[in-house]
Amino acid sequence: MSNAEFQQSEPSADEQTESQSQTTTVSGESQEQLEDEWIEYEFDGAPKISVEDLDVFYGDDHAIQSVSMDIPENSVTALIGPSGCGKSTFLRCLNRMNDRINSARVEGSVEIDGEEIYQDGVNLVELRKRVGMVFQAPNPFPKSIRDNIAYGPRKHGDINDGLLDRLLGRADPDKEDELVERSLRQAALWDEVSDRLDDNALGLSGGQQQRLCIGRCLAVDPEVILMDEPASALDPIATAKIEDLIEELSEDYTVVVVTHNMQQAARISDQTAVFLTGGELVEYGETDQIFENPNSQRVEDYITGKFG
Ligand SMILES: Nc1ncnc2c1ncn2[C@@H]1O[C@H](COP(=O)(O)OP(=O)(O)O)[C@@H](O)[C@H]1O
Ligand SMILES: [Mg+2]
Repeated sequence: MSNAEFQQSEPSADEQTESQSQTTTVSGESQEQLEDEWIEYEFDGAPKISVEDLDVFYGDDHAIQSVSMDIPENSVTALIGPSGCGKSTFLRCLNRMNDRINSARVEGSVEIDGEEIYQDGVNLVELRKRVGMVFQAPNPFPKSIRDNIAYGPRKHGDINDGLLDRLLGRADPDKEDELVERSLRQAALWDEVSDRLDDNALGLSGGQQQRLCIGRCLAVDPEVILMDEPASALDPIATAKIEDLIEELSEDYTVVVVTHNMQQAARISDQTAVFLTGGELVEYGETDQIFENPNSQRVEDYITGKFG
């Protein structure tokens, strides 16, 4: 999509002179105009995730521009915006997945429960257990359903390390079975697969595979679940199941979900962040407010389908 499609109506002569001396964004707005339409999203309680002045570069390309936002716990936060605006890049910052991309450089701060994740000495394996991720295309391992769920806890040694005791409130010789059942129940998949746990996961339908991936993520006891367009490869019925599951999970987990489907964001999220081209966070607020009464003209144009 070309930048031209994002141009707003011509600024008035006054605005034009004023903005000439200022930095302008890719869509031609001055920084000042952006700040004018920015309203801080306020909520009760301490943020689970606090992002401050986050910038991401791929080589010379500036993919995320000075984004700050606080994400409340045990709720669904939707990230929406046109393709290429930086949603996936932003999401990957929240568990340092961008570290795996050689050309990516991240600047700024992300705190989880008040603790900086961009500092030396952070254990990335631990971080990614606390902040799990589910991708657009379901990616189960070519192993049994049971092995998919037990993989993480086995690998991390958690099954013998007290995780199960913590999750189940007691020690049990059949720990792994219980973990598998618990995770599959939480992922709303147990009833469909309980009689074939040793079957290969690749034999499941796409929707079942995606719920299995969510179960795999839950098995290592995360606090935050990042989902990048988790239903966009699925049919409407499978999508509805994932949407219901996301809403259920938000009672116990902090869910951040990228979607290009605005109806989906409106249906499932508590708050919505709108990114527009160039990696700017243009507006962030309660979902109803964003969809019914956005503060920013550009957001209104986007959600009413004038572009994007
Ligand atoms: N691995 C990468 N290397 C270089 N550029 C990338 C990479 N990933 C994304 N980008 C660029 O960063 C911008 C934002 O991309 P992305 O975060 O994937 O957007 P979205 O998820 O909103 O579609 C795009 O211009 C894209 O081309
Ligand atoms: Mg993306």
